[in-house]
Amino acid sequence: MAKPAVSSSWIWFLSVAALIHMRTVFSSSSTSSRCYTAIYSFGDSIADTGNIYYDTEHIPSSTSMVLNPPYGETFFHYPTGRYSDGRLIIDFLAERIGVPLLKPYLGIKKGKIKTWNSLEGVNFAVGGAAALDASFFLEKGLYDVDVPASYSLGVQLDWFMDLLPSICNSSSECKEVLGRSLFLVGEIGGNDFNYLFQLGKTIEEAMTYVPLVINKISWAINKLIDLGAQTLVVPGNFAIGCNFFCLKNFPSSDMEDYDESGCLKPFNNFADYYNKQLLAELNRLQELHPDVNIIYADYYHASLQLYQSPEQFGFTKSILDSCCPLGNANNHNVPLKHCGEPGLISCNDPSQYISWDGVHLTEAAYKWIAKGLLEGPFTNPKNGFSCNSDI
Ligand SMILES: *[C@@H]1O[C@H](CO)[C@@H](O)[C@H](O)[C@H]1NC(C)=O
Repeated sequence: MAKPAVSSSWIWFLSVAALIHMRTVFSSSSTSSRCYTAIYSFGDSIADTGNIYYDTEHIPSSTSMVLNPPYGETFFHYPTGRYSDGRLIIDFLAERIGVPLLKPYLGIKKGKIKTWNSLEGVNFAVGGAAALDASFFLEKGLYDVDVPASYSLGVQLDWFMDLLPSICNSSSECKEVLGRSLFLVGEIGGNDFNYLFQLGKTIEEAMTYVPLVINKISWAINKLIDLGAQTLVVPGNFAIGCNFFCLKNFPSSDMEDYDESGCLKPFNNFADYYNKQLLAELNRLQELHPDVNIIYADYYHASLQLYQSPEQFGFTKSILDSCCPLGNANNHNVPLKHCGEPGLISCNDPSQYISWDGVHLTEAAYKWIAKGLLEGPFTNPKNGFSCNSDI
């Protein structure tokens, strides 16, 4: 077939016209976030877009249920490894920023994903990941077959270093390329505490681990900044006291432990305490690196608004309801089965629910949280995602 006869100057003109058009479109939108060329993401199941899918030999059977239907039923129509019925917060961020949905690193590494461009972003987040290394949990005698914690933040940073030559080589090139990228560091750390709670540790004991987790996140942020990262979004923990899993597994006989929305105050207070410590550390890092944007993403309040006024966001089901398996958190005698187990009944319309599988949220809930981050007010500084630079 003959090449189309288009002169190079014509192409040049089209590009300029397209650029001018893009500028108009994006500068008129409330979030002019197109200036990021890539997203690199680190975290756990909240942001895993399929790493777990390519790591079937390591994951415990309970976690592997995510590879079964009805996971993915709403948007992808098949299980992708995402812990939801559809898209995650990270997917909505990618859509808004205008980069492709993030490819999972392990799929690339294992040669299972054939087409990928690491310059458009890569996802290192893995379901079950903790901030602290597995060796830490082992040494403390906190390791358990159901507590894999195998792909810590440190491991994910190593993966990023392995992949770095496909993104940039010289240090000046890395500063430029990574400087145009958005780094999502978290949510990570939630599992460190989830594991402690599941092993029967008290909230008081969990609090003693807060500085260790935050130090690890701070270490990762510093490492990324050294490499050239200029924009880092660092989420805190969710309002875990309103989470279905928490309500079902850690009920209190003292009604004083519940707030007016039915959430467990001690767990929410713990998440709030952790988030305040994290924010203080981010403020400290921001002062050390005034030329970098460190943005705190307030997952706590972005999720709390849904739990407090579900109907205002289109959810007809309460915080006690889970879609998959279909269940009520007040059924304390029935152990929580894993969504994806054959024969379980799930709900007809996940968009009516906040909780998808008892632990993770529905696409509908994640969409609201993403909106709250991108359009405000749930970032610190406010409008954190809009670009300062004039690209
Ligand atoms: C970095 O160098 C390696 C080896 O020369 C090369 O294969 C790779 O494409 C380079 N990366 C970039 C982003 O140019």
